[in-house]
Amino acid sequence: MSQPLLELRNVNTHYGAIQALHDVNLSIDQGEIVTLIGANGAGKSTLLMTIFGDPRATSGQILYNGADLTRSAPYDIASHGIAQVPEGRRIFPNMTVEENMVIGSLPIGPDHVDEDRDYLFTLFPRLKERRNQRAGTLSGGEQQMLAIARALMGRPQTILLDEPSLGLAPMVVRQIFAILRDIADLGKTIFLVEQNAHHALHLADRGYVLVTGRIELTGTGAELLDNPQVRDAYLGQGRKRKPKPA
Ligand SMILES: Nc1ncnc2c1ncn2[C@@H]1O[C@H](COP(=O)(O)OP(=O)(O)O)[C@@H](O)[C@H]1O
Ligand SMILES: [Mg+2]
Repeated sequence: MSQPLLELRNVNTHYGAIQALHDVNLSIDQGEIVTLIGANGAGKSTLLMTIFGDPRATSGQILYNGADLTRSAPYDIASHGIAQVPEGRRIFPNMTVEENMVIGSLPIGPDHVDEDRDYLFTLFPRLKERRNQRAGTLSGGEQQMLAIARALMGRPQTILLDEPSLGLAPMVVRQIFAILRDIADLGKTIFLVEQNAHHALHLADRGYVLVTGRIELTGTGAELLDNPQVRDAYLGQGRKRKPKPA
């Protein structure tokens, strides 16, 4: 088998004296959708941000397309074709929708801005309607769409998303996951961090389960959906009903 596109080997990450990731091994092939699920505080965001170089792994290796990114700065990592959609979207609220999108083109320069913006407006018609609106006035779902569109403006090969469904209504969550499917169909590789295990595992080719900084389980999306431990802890199913106290 060929080497994975992105590979983490025995990655450890600390915040001061606190160790947030323990010996994480994870790989993503070109064109795959891989999800990382886990409870609040498990270290999901830390893992995603460690790939992007902030915080930096304290030991272990991060490889991308055969290049060692372990000591690279975030802007250098972006120039390898990796884009990040951070938790909480981090759009610029006082800039317009279109201005936010233009910022996403910085890793590749201005040559394709008009072409890519117009193309992304076909994927996100809501953003086109609101192109001159201040981003801070968008709904939560529209802000998430903008964060994704901004990342795509850099023509990334791989897109890392941190909980894109967070705080959104169920119908909007379904729209966001449909957009992720469309993006995968464009040939992009997707790494998706989610607490919403149900949607994430249905979308993903493969998944990993992170428990207090350690990868505890891995398998295809279908295998993990079927796994009793996963069902019990993350899907709210398969739980034995406790007898009522007398
Ligand atoms: N900047 C930070 N400084 C110190 N501890 C942090 C920092 N960010 C996260 N942590 C701790 O690291 C652990 C993992 O957090 P995080 O990666 O945000 O988890 P998740 O995204 O799964 O909710 C938690 O115990 C959290 O309190
Ligand atoms: Mg998080």
